[in-house]
Amino acid sequence: MCGIIGYAGSSPALPYLLKGLEQLEYRGYDSAGIAVMEKGEPRVVKSVGSTARLREKVSGHSLSGGLGIGHTRWATHGVPSEANAHPQSSGPLYIVHNGIIENERILRSELEAGGEVFLSETDTETIVHLVNRAMRQGIAFPEAVRSILPLLEGSYSFLMAHADPSEPLVAVHRGAPLLLGTCSHGVFVASDMTAFPGDVHSTLPLEVDDMVMIRSDGRFEILSLTQGKERVATLVSRSHHGVHGKGEYPHYMFKEICEQPEMLDRLLAKRIRREDGRLSVRFSSEAERALSSARRIRIVGCGTSFHAGILGKYRIEALSGVPVEVDVASEFRYREPILDPDADLLVVLTQSGETADTLAALRMAREAGVPTLALVNVEGSTADREADATILLEAGPEFGVAATKTFLSQIALLTLVALFLAPDDRLREKEGRSREEILSDFLKLPMLLDKTLSLSTGVTAIARSFIEVSTVLFMGRGGDFPLALEGALKLKEISYIHAEGYAGGELKHGPLALVEKGVPVVSLLSPDERLVPKMVSNMKETLSRGAFLVSIGSERFQEEFSPVSSMSLSLPDCLPMFFPLVSAVPLQLLAYHTACFKGFDVDRPRNLAKSVTVE
Ligand code: M6R
Repeated sequence: MCGIIGYAGSSPALPYLLKGLEQLEYRGYDSAGIAVMEKGEPRVVKSVGSTARLREKVSGHSLSGGLGIGHTRWATHGVPSEANAHPQSSGPLYIVHNGIIENERILRSELEAGGEVFLSETDTETIVHLVNRAMRQGIAFPEAVRSILPLLEGSYSFLMAHADPSEPLVAVHRGAPLLLGTCSHGVFVASDMTAFPGDVHSTLPLEVDDMVMIRSDGRFEILSLTQGKERVATLVSRSHHGVHGKGEYPHYMFKEICEQPEMLDRLLAKRIRREDGRLSVRFSSEAERALSSARRIRIVGCGTSFHAGILGKYRIEALSGVPVEVDVASEFRYREPILDPDADLLVVLTQSGETADTLAALRMAREAGVPTLALVNVEGSTADREADATILLEAGPEFGVAATKTFLSQIALLTLVALFLAPDDRLREKEGRSREEILSDFLKLPMLLDKTLSLSTGVTAIARSFIEVSTVLFMGRGGDFPLALEGALKLKEISYIHAEGYAGGELKHGPLALVEKGVPVVSLLSPDERLVPKMVSNMKETLSRGAFLVSIGSERFQEEFSPVSSMSLSLPDCLPMFFPLVSAVPLQLLAYHTACFKGFDVDRPRNLAKSVTVE
């Protein structure tokens, strides 16, 4: 949830820490801080708010130390304040930490009873006091770090620096991701690769239970805590693919929305192949084996990934006939689901590959002997490493907290999974088309997405009408239902307007009571002949209660929905199974423009973080 970075080398650490923290800010941005081990006296600077504030505050200091740590925080224990910002310290030790120490209360009471004085409300401070106490008892650094780890419960990682710069920088991975990066002038360690500067040529994802001692001369030693001995690991050359910035775009979110046609084009070119003169869907052999052997698919995910999962269920069941269950990961892990190793395949959907609840579901399945498949964006993430097979989203790095291009990739891949599993005759019977025709249409979708992006003026007009509203309802049927959920999530997440998504058929079962004069209702209309008339009836029901009706539908049915709408957007026509891929774009733009009109920080919505590595 928080971002951490450390550097030990021959160059001044400070510029790297600040730059790295800016890149990590998407993980948390309540407060930030750095500690640099200057000869003689370590210097700590902290600030509440973004890393830009921290940079301002640091500008008055000239720091040249080559060993330092930095942190950008998403508060779990204690309000965002300078006292609670990291680094925390005790004696000569400084720590930055990501994750949660679950037995913090007990540890704190014991430490306080023993005379330690706490200056923050953080669980982090317990770790550094424990290590300092161990050192006072005669255990040398860094052994003192190792000695206290059995006392800590939870999933976390931390970096600890000693005031004496000749001591190593210590990194501990107990469940929250950490990577090493090496370059000609030193070694970096951070929560993710984006924090590394361009100088880093090789990287190494650390494993759970690794403890690393990093020295300023570029040497490092990885100790496996489970094996109790040094672990030999090989650095891999860093791919510079996807090194980024906002470029000419005002926000990452907008850039990421605009990147979608190109991203989809690349993804489809990789997954739809012409073999023996026929188009077919291809994944890695492990993924294909896992999918083909499944008699029941269990999808889990959180937030946007969960919404993608619902669409996946609809598509896979309809096209392939394989039963699919979909769960919110935090429910799945505690609701005692019945898992069948002989029938089930657990599919985890996670952009980051680090979401705590999703990983817990993955581990539960593995323990039950159920094969697992991860659809994940971050290569080398925990989900990627722990699942039996992986299908990468290949969306490139996503910095906006609101998931956009990764959602599009998830729903594209799940549609491809459905097509991969679909028997030819069933496809023809359901869709009235051959696999070849369907896949050729799929390959044209990036073009339709491009066209949809150009409808931006229509979307901004709708967004402008949302500036003053306090509630927006989204509704859709079939594949448009998960899109209604997602459209509502996007809007609430970044514009702070209360928004809910409903299945069109549910309207009369409750949500209609919320409709009164001027309440915006956004209706989604895939070009599905069975569903359009039903949606139009739902729309009229809201209209007669005074709704401000916005419809987003396929141009093929424009004459049905446009006349009954206060505002409408007609999207390029396509097969109903592809429509959510097209309609996702205006829904994302709608949330984006509304939030911009309201003057909010689109890329860093309040209270949220990109990667939810705690329960
Ligand atoms: O990394 P994940 O896909 O596992 O993240 C799951 C959710 O936290 C995420 O989709 C969240 O809902 C998005 N910020 C919504 O835009």
